[in-house]
Amino acid sequence: MEPIKVGLLGFGTVGCGTYTVLRRNQEEIKRRAGRGIEIARIAVRDPAKARTALASVDAADAGSVEVTSDFNAVVDDPSIDIVAEMIGGTGIARELVLRAIANRKHVVTANKALLAVHGTEIFEAAHANGVMVAFEAAVAGGIPIIKALREGLTANRIEYIAGIINGTTNYILSEMRDRGLDFATALKAAQALGYAEADPTFDIEGVDAAHKATIMSAIAFGVPVQFDKAYVEGISRLAAIDIRYAEELGYRIKLLGIARRTAKGIELRVHPTLIPAKRLLANVEGAMNAVVVHGDAVGTTLYYGKGAGAEPTASAVVADLVDVTRLHTADPEHRVPHLAFQRDRLSDTPILPIDEVTSGYYLRLRVADVTGVLADITRILAAAGISIDALLQKESEQVDDHGKGETDIILITHETVEKNVNAAISGIEALRTVVSKVTKLRMEALN
Ligand code: NAP
Ligand code: HSE
Repeated sequence: MEPIKVGLLGFGTVGCGTYTVLRRNQEEIKRRAGRGIEIARIAVRDPAKARTALASVDAADAGSVEVTSDFNAVVDDPSIDIVAEMIGGTGIARELVLRAIANRKHVVTANKALLAVHGTEIFEAAHANGVMVAFEAAVAGGIPIIKALREGLTANRIEYIAGIINGTTNYILSEMRDRGLDFATALKAAQALGYAEADPTFDIEGVDAAHKATIMSAIAFGVPVQFDKAYVEGISRLAAIDIRYAEELGYRIKLLGIARRTAKGIELRVHPTLIPAKRLLANVEGAMNAVVVHGDAVGTTLYYGKGAGAEPTASAVVADLVDVTRLHTADPEHRVPHLAFQRDRLSDTPILPIDEVTSGYYLRLRVADVTGVLADITRILAAAGISIDALLQKESEQVDDHGKGETDIILITHETVEKNVNAAISGIEALRTVVSKVTKLRMEALN
């Protein structure tokens, strides 16, 4: 049988990784897919650069791949069966993906931003044209988490997902903690290793992780993708002192993406999170990703692997190419639905605002080291119905002539609703003896 023909859009880290893995493992892949998978055309802004990259992977084959700067020519080419979009972003990538779908071509993409923001439009277009949009590489790089959620766990009512789903920020946090690197140096290293997004603020500010959490929430709970409802907080304002105090209390801080089903709705949030140091997730280091999924039947499952980089991501892209190759002649109604649930059975369960989220909290504040200050704080917390799980008071570092100084107080609360904590924080910050803003971090027991 003729090989299936792929048109590749973009030839950067993931595009080149995909070509490399396909070339290296072509025989094995052919035996699995039932026919060869061939990258026939590549569209890039700079064909000369792409030709050099192609030749560095496989000089003998490079000449057989046509490289063009005309993206539409590839998307409109009747000989192309699958368009692999490896550009990123929501601009030209969206236009090209919709055009490929309109031309009745299957699409494989690693672009989580595109699907988290425009997924509803893209999946509707794919349905209308009877084509597949496959996106395993969009979440957690090489970990087959989409396949696990959509197919492997299909018997379950999924209760929650919590994951380290951004390699760049996990790499930065690990390098800062273990090697004492400063933030900027660690970020540069992550960029040099090909982990970061074209705009690394997407990584640092939690946006990339929120894109991925949004996609997982849709597949897990059968709701539309709703990135605009996700709560997003990154690591740029995380203070080194909180990482240290958390360690003293037996916790590690990780940027977690969380999607949880509750009686009131779905929690969808990304933020730095204290995790007990003994949990497996707390020990996921570098660019590694890990996702915990809890299903009612299976219980807790954990998926771990490389979340970014050329070949780990290509592993997921090629798996999608094989899936599409196997299934593209199947009746569209009998393919696995894009978002796991039948498209006319999606639910309108609301995504909860962050005020309604339930969590444990780490609170750090600086107070005048005088009698009664702790009593005032605990009184405010008690009035808001918040109970304290642990408390750490640091020795005063500086004292004045009267022997009075300032001290850091760190409180760990039991689980409570966020709006109650915010109300208590307002009361605490109004105390005359409290000399700083309260730093608030959320916690997950993950048990
Ligand atoms: P990359 O290395 O920056 O490569 C992007 C490619 O697209 C390059 O060939 C680039 O051309 C081209 N491109 C960028 N903007 C373009 C535009 N406006 N018009 C035309 N071409 C454009 O990016 P990447 O890391 O491979 O990421 C590609 C996709 O995979 C993104 O959606 C990303 O989120 C996703 N992803 C990446 C990873 C990872 O580890 N890197 C992992 C999972 C998913 P130039 O060379 O001319 O700039
Ligand atoms: N920038 C992303 C990350 C790439 O660091 O996780 C993988 O999606």
